[in-house]
Amino acid sequence: MRFTLVALLLISGLPGSSQNLLAIPDTLSGTVFNLNIAPGTRNFYSGFTTNTIGINGDYLGPTLMLRQGDFITINVNNNLTDTTTLHWHGMHVPAIADGGPHITITPGTTWSPSFEVKDKASLHWYHSHLHMRTAEHVTKGASGLIYVRDTEEDSLSLPRNYGIDDIPLVVQTRAFDPAKQFLVESAADSVVVINGTMDPFILLPAQVIRLRILNAATERSFNFGFSNNSLFYQIGSDGGLLSAPVSMTRLLLSPGERAEILVDLSALNGQVFSLMSFASQIPAGIYGAQNPQGAGPNLITGYAANLLNGNDYDLLQINVVPPNSNPVTVIPSSLSIVQPYLESAANKTRDFIFSPEVMGPTGSLLGPFVINMMSFDMMMINDTVRLNDIEVWQLTNQTRISHPFHIHDVQFYILDINGVAPSPGMAGRKDVVLVPPLGGTVRFIAKFEDYADPVFPYMYHCHMLTHEDGGMMGQFIVVDSSTGLPENEKGFFNVYPNPVVSGQITLTWNENTGSDITLTVFDITGKELEKIEIRETTSSVFTLPVHDFPSGIYILKLESESGSYYDKIIVDN
Ligand code: C2O
Ligand code: CU
Ligand code: CU
Repeated sequence: MRFTLVALLLISGLPGSSQNLLAIPDTLSGTVFNLNIAPGTRNFYSGFTTNTIGINGDYLGPTLMLRQGDFITINVNNNLTDTTTLHWHGMHVPAIADGGPHITITPGTTWSPSFEVKDKASLHWYHSHLHMRTAEHVTKGASGLIYVRDTEEDSLSLPRNYGIDDIPLVVQTRAFDPAKQFLVESAADSVVVINGTMDPFILLPAQVIRLRILNAATERSFNFGFSNNSLFYQIGSDGGLLSAPVSMTRLLLSPGERAEILVDLSALNGQVFSLMSFASQIPAGIYGAQNPQGAGPNLITGYAANLLNGNDYDLLQINVVPPNSNPVTVIPSSLSIVQPYLESAANKTRDFIFSPEVMGPTGSLLGPFVINMMSFDMMMINDTVRLNDIEVWQLTNQTRISHPFHIHDVQFYILDINGVAPSPGMAGRKDVVLVPPLGGTVRFIAKFEDYADPVFPYMYHCHMLTHEDGGMMGQFIVVDSSTGLPENEKGFFNVYPNPVVSGQITLTWNENTGSDITLTVFDITGKELEKIEIRETTSSVFTLPVHDFPSGIYILKLESESGSYYDKIIVDN
């Protein structure tokens, strides 16, 4: 392999000395996975040491190889001096295992969610989801890929030799300060990093190659294509395979979105070309275009000076070498069965408005970032969804910039974008959709099945991580009304003060619940801490001291003959 590369260098004069062989993340497989999140360093620039967060390494993490139907456990050890979380983006898992901002992993502890892999074959990813600091942890490196395999995908003639003809690409841009430390919020994100490699090149055999692309940038959209304008075939979107390959020469992915593509290099042996972002063709109103603001002046400081905005640039140089034995040489004609839910089957429609009053059209691109006029509040459940309901979510973006909207728990199908049915590459299973600016609309349909939890929520949010951290996020719980665990009903009991700052919480409830009450206190991981029987006398007030509780979020469960009720408290000692 090394010899081939040297020969190639001599023949073509490329890649230049500034280029680096693309790193391919290690893999982990099986049913028990051990991830260690730890501080690290990397020399992105010679003579400089950049501080990073790595997972089983110094930057990014291993690719998790999962199989549909397996019951898996992931031991996530937090070796940082800082709290973090780890979320399985795109995966359909119980809320308690989802790794959102409520499921914190404190320094020196291990969080071990277990769940069945229910997803279809797909490309997902994991990343930190810390409250208000997701951008910081992800920028430093706290993310990795997830491959899910299933028998349907096994049966297709597709490239699946990891790192050889099935290539993972974690595409990011980064900004560095003069000391070469990462800048978290900056329009100077002019450095492309793929799988943690700057200025990467790869040797690919002259056969059909599968690229699994994740846009893991903080804000930037990429308009993928090849320098030789090769046709390529999109075979998968966020949630798995499309019904059939879709041929194209450009593919726009916003932050959080994934795509799998096939490109046929059979006739290109010996050639050198590049995977690029054709950002000059990105429509105005998208971060990465010449003008990120749909109309009017560009208000992002430093944006115009960033040469990635509105210009075409290289992402990955590809050097085509002779084919392997048994190469895939044919693009399949069909892939999977994609069956969107019918709109007529929807039980409910919900509206999400990226609020004009706060964010635009007269506002700037710098926030505040809100949904339905509300900034994210850890203690507020914005939406309650009934288990097994099919819902239509209507997103309306009155602001000047496009926002990539992401939902946890389920995959959805796009019904329309600005009233028009999705193109074939967008008609499959999705969990992120870019909502156009200036009154743009998206409607999607999803079914909320399998997992209900009256306490732990799932998130929905803008996947521009700075917007998410800035409050452009909400949370929903999925409730199963048939099991008698409704959300805390108004007036049954009240908890105050909340957050608790006085060292004790006071519970009050309506008199005459008719029976004794059991109060159980759980920590955020669901571990039972206390169980107290409260005799129903004439009093309807109970005081619980909490001064020896570590600061954090706790779950209260109150049971009486009339049912079980849950609430959350924040203790700040
Ligand atoms: Cu990529 Cu809330 O997640
Ligand atoms: Cu997610
Ligand atoms: Cu946004």
